[in-house]
Amino acid sequence: MSSSALEGRPTHDDALLAEIREYWNNHIHDLELATQPVGTAGFFQELAEYRFDKLHYLPRVVDFSAYRDKQLLEIGCGVGIDLVRFARAGALVTGIDLAEVSIDLARRNFAQEGLAANLQVMNGEALQFEANSFDVAYVHGVLQYTADAQKMINEVHRVLRPGGEAILMVYNKYSWLNLLSRLMKVDLEHQDAPVLRLYSIKEFKNLLRPFAEAKIVPERFPVKTRLHHGIKATLYNDLFVTGFNCLPKAMIRPFGWHILALARK
Ligand SMILES: C[S@@+](CC[C@H](N)C(=O)[O-])C[C@H]1O[C@@H](n2cnc3c(N)ncnc32)[C@H](O)[C@@H]1O
Repeated sequence: MSSSALEGRPTHDDALLAEIREYWNNHIHDLELATQPVGTAGFFQELAEYRFDKLHYLPRVVDFSAYRDKQLLEIGCGVGIDLVRFARAGALVTGIDLAEVSIDLARRNFAQEGLAANLQVMNGEALQFEANSFDVAYVHGVLQYTADAQKMINEVHRVLRPGGEAILMVYNKYSWLNLLSRLMKVDLEHQDAPVLRLYSIKEFKNLLRPFAEAKIVPERFPVKTRLHHGIKATLYNDLFVTGFNCLPKAMIRPFGWHILALARK
């Protein structure tokens, strides 16, 4: 990656961001699930179905239809599965991602949908937007993979208008999935990424210091895997998922794999 793409003189972080870009250009999230030709309407539909099946909590926690006529920025938008939902409901959307391949696919996704969006290859740690220019920032599954998560948070805070809302998600260090992954010796998704950081709720709250308020919502409890096969996958699907989900929610809630923050500037 040229230093100009990341602005200023090359730094240690620039080299890491270049590695991160390279990784995500070659590992589009959930791509291995798709059976339809990449970039077709069927492809995006398949990815969306898989996503909202696995993350069925998402529409419960995030009201995709609540931002009509609001300026909404998604950082690390990937191929735009969630961004399309906001746009369908009338939000004025901007999506950025470090990976060119993601933005290329996101443009195709929006074109298939006949929806408008400002989609740009950009580093979420150095946003090329004016301060106070967005009503909402959505950053789902990105902070944990970037070089400097605090820089990204500071940028989210800067570009939000006073009173603006940030919806953010990181992975929980003290979660059922992290424990299971260690016990079963099965890698977490994208464990081979140049950066993968897990957070405790306390660490996540610390990252969110610039915000006036932040409500934390742990989510993402076990659902059956379609990614893994064999004996481990059968034990997981038939015993673990069913057993775990029978436990009282109040008991398991702090151990959800996703920690969401609903923050206000
Ligand atoms: C796990 S994927 C998540 C994609 C999407 N948000 C989702 O929830 O499916 C992580 C994404 O973050 C992007 N990303 C990582 N670091 C970034 C940065 N500094 N600026 C912009 N995007 C970044 C990657 O390119 C990748 O598309």
